[in-house]
Amino acid sequence: MTIGGYDESRGLRSGARALVVLPVLGNATGLRSPDAKLAEAVSLTNAIALDVVHAEIIKLRSPSASRLLGTGQIKRLAGTVAALCVEVVIIDGPVTPVQQRNLEKELKAKVIDRPGLILEIFGERASTSEGTLQVELAHLQYQASRLVRSWTHLERQRGGFGFLGGPGESQIEADRRLIRDRIARLRKDLDEVRRTRGLHRRNRQKAPWPVVALVGYTNAGKSTLFNRLTGADVRAEDLLFATLDPTMRAIRLPGHDKLVLSDTVGFISDLPTQLVAAFRATLEEVLEADLIVHVRDISHPDTDAQAQDVLAVLTDLGLAPENRETPMLTVFNKIDALDAEQHELVRARAGSDAIPVSALTGEGLDELRAAMDVVLRAGARVHRFVLPAGDGKRLAWLHSHGEVVGEVYDDEGVTVEVRLSDKDRSRFMAMAPA
Ligand code: GTP
Repeated sequence: MTIGGYDESRGLRSGARALVVLPVLGNATGLRSPDAKLAEAVSLTNAIALDVVHAEIIKLRSPSASRLLGTGQIKRLAGTVAALCVEVVIIDGPVTPVQQRNLEKELKAKVIDRPGLILEIFGERASTSEGTLQVELAHLQYQASRLVRSWTHLERQRGGFGFLGGPGESQIEADRRLIRDRIARLRKDLDEVRRTRGLHRRNRQKAPWPVVALVGYTNAGKSTLFNRLTGADVRAEDLLFATLDPTMRAIRLPGHDKLVLSDTVGFISDLPTQLVAAFRATLEEVLEADLIVHVRDISHPDTDAQAQDVLAVLTDLGLAPENRETPMLTVFNKIDALDAEQHELVRARAGSDAIPVSALTGEGLDELRAAMDVVLRAGARVHRFVLPAGDGKRLAWLHSHGEVVGEVYDDEGVTVEVRLSDKDRSRFMAMAPA
């Protein structure tokens, strides 16, 4: 969508030639290696079907307020842009509207920053109506924030002549009104879609199955694991964010009638603030899970930093380890990609806290299933229920979901003593007697 002259990053041509730049502050000390960050930026750029022809790290001593990069650096970069016929320059970091405009002018190419890039990816991948609306809302909020800032910037430039108005101002005013109206409309549509989804979720809650939510950094292998566990052919590509909307499937685990497995959106560092808010709703599924399975790409050089990002988002959602009621299992995925020595190290590190697996080869999946079973049964207490005679359905349910420790029949029915988790107890209480 183009509003006035403020279209940020829509309308990119698939296959357009792109250059990826990672600006690094001279004194930056982070958990991530710049090389791995640059590789991630290239993956993200490939994920929106741009053709990355060149990628480089640019060291900054102090970023310029108006251009971000130094004069010499821009000149050199402009040369590369021209020589390689680059159409889009991706800058893996935040770029202010002023810096963006100046860079576009001097590089003679479109400039997209990291938040813009992530919005672009989310826009392409959203498949449900809620996902699409959320992304559109986030995109508009991103545009609006730029519009406001550039508007105050223009106003300041005009100084005392602001009262004269003029085409610039009225155009921006009109753009702002357009965006405001559109945001209001989207919010209403979203409320409506969420209400429907709430209904769906309530229906599922009534379904007597525990829910297991897969979470993890983007590209950790959630979809692949999901497919392995469900035997389903959900799209798993070597593309980031292949799964934007949560996907639900039932799986079977020995000792459990059925489980609902939910594959959530991939997490990522530096998620644009608007998107964090917008995607909270998508992650609400995680809040209602009986078990969270954190899938980690243990073969990735930044696996620890990625895990911290995921845990930070979970904490934001109110799922901090210290007050979390929902148990969590950690999976060290992609162990097939390790050499023998690393393999041993990872196994030692996993100890009893994590399960090393390969979603690709299937190694370790039996252990994962067993661990899921143990956790889902933990915290169970023995409850006593009296069922009327003929209520075979609920009796069978108790047998398949809990451990029946006593069963006494009399004229009125059957008294069952059964070990059940709290959530299963609530599920049982919600089931109507026969
Ligand atoms: P997002 O949708 O971006 O959140 O990704 P995801 O976590 O769902 O990852 P996905 O399952 O799409 O896998 C990403 C890439 O990792 C694909 O190329 C997979 O083939 C690969 N992959 C997944 N599991 C394994 C594994 O156990 N070993 C190896 N070597 N590669 C794996």
